[in-house]
Formats: sequence, structure tokens, C-alpha cells
Amino acid sequence: MIRAPSGRRTIRSFVRRTGRITPAQERALDALWPQFGIAFSAHTLNLDEVFGRSAERVLEIGFGNGETLVREAGEKPEIDFLGVEVHEPGIGRCLISAEDAGLKNLRVIKHDAIEVLQHQVGDGALARINLYFPDPWPKKRHHKRRIVQISFLKLAASKLAPDATLHIATDWENYAEQIDELIAQSSEFTLAERHLHKGGFESLERQTTRFERRGLRKGHSIWDWLLIRN
Ligand SMILES: C[S@@+](CC[C@H](N)C(=O)[O-])C[C@H]1O[C@@H](n2cnc3c(N)ncnc32)[C@H](O)[C@@H]1O
Repeated sequence: MIRAPSGRRTIRSFVRRTGRITPAQERALDALWPQFGIAFSAHTLNLDEVFGRSAERVLEIGFGNGETLVREAGEKPEIDFLGVEVHEPGIGRCLISAEDAGLKNLRVIKHDAIEVLQHQVGDGALARINLYFPDPWPKKRHHKRRIVQISFLKLAASKLAPDATLHIATDWENYAEQIDELIAQSSEFTLAERHLHKGGFESLERQTTRFERRGLRKGHSIWDWLLIRN
């Protein structure tokens, strides 16, 4: 376990849900892991070795069931995609879709994305980071669990190449206000685009996500930010 300098346990942006996993998802986690999975370790990955080529790399944090990630990887075979998620049923679902799509340009890490960025991703290694609908942690006492913090923006910036991009989307108004404030404070990023919409938005190369559709059904608005690393 990684501890904060104070010696206390680091606050994480997720709680491990036991959630129901289907037999097919469980089989996929076993059978397809050698093909798509990368174990977490505290060593920097050589991504050229991992993917067997040199290419632009996109990292998606908290990909859920991987619907958006798999679709994007299928549409852009020239780019390598790294997905990081902790929820096992979602990872199983993602592996099944990746296998069905015959993807060669996708790898998955089952671990806290903060630690993956800190330890496994080299500085300046990424062309883009996608953070689509991070857990909103609505209760005030849980706001400290929200993944978007100043420390997160600094960490993300260090892993992006100059002029590379960070794309964030949320459907939670209070989180959006906080993200606006953090972006204004950040010296690492320049805000290139900000959109507030009610869905059906197809710019910024973002596919509609499962969580987004859920928010839209509840009448939520959607906020999108595209940030460029300075
Ligand atoms: C609200 S869901 C959104 C899923 C998907 N992006 C979508 O839009 O449908 C947030 C996801 O982020 C994952 N998550 C939260 N914190 C994470 C972290 N530190 N590292 C990896 N995954 C994380 C959760 O397990 C969850 O599946």
C-alpha cells in the first residue's frame, strides 16, 4: 500500500466494489489477460516493447466496461491505447469486446490510475489522457475522493508530451464547478475548448459513454473540457 507522507493511507478515488461478475467475464479475465493485460509494478513501462512498435499513445482512466475505449481503438489502429480500471466485471467486459474486435493496439492495467501514472508511465510518454465521467462523489465529505485535484493535473501534465491533451467530461454540476476552478488555477494546462451541452455532442473525438447516457436519462447536462499541456 502506498502511504501519504503523513504515514496515513492515501485517499483513493474509488472503493473496491465486489459487484457481480458473470462467468464469461471471469473467463475473459483469465483467458484474455495474457493477450491484453499488463500487471501493475513500480517500474516504468517500455511502451514500444509492450506494443511492439512506436506510435502515439492514449491513456483512458476509469474506462468502465470499455465500450468507448474499444470503439476508439478499433477506429484508430495507428494509435496505441492503454486503459486503466479497477472494477473487475468492467475489465472482463472490456476484454471480451477487445477480443471480438480483434484489437492489437489495446492494453489494460487493473490498478489505481494514480499509481499507474506515478510509476508505470514515463514522463512525456502520452499524446492524450481521457478521463470520461470520473466518479462524482456527490457528498461534500467525499469530495476529497474526486480524482480531479491540482495534484492530479500536475501528475497528468508530467506524463503528457508538450502540446498533448487531457480530455475531461462530467455530468455532475458541482464537480464541473470545481473542475473549472482547478483549470483556472493550473499553470500546466491551457483550456482549448469547454462545452456545456445536453448530449448528442460529437466533437472532441469523444464517443458517448455508458455513464453519460445514464446521466442524460436523468436530465443532467454534460460538461467537456479539452486542455492542452503547456
Ligand atoms: C462513473 S464510472 C465511468 C465509467 C466510464 N468512463 C463511463 O463513462 O461509462 C467511473 C469509473 O472509474 C473507475 N475509477 C475510479 N477511480 C479510479 C482510479 N483511481 N483508477 C482506475 N479506475 C478508477 C471506477 O471503477 C469506475 O468504473
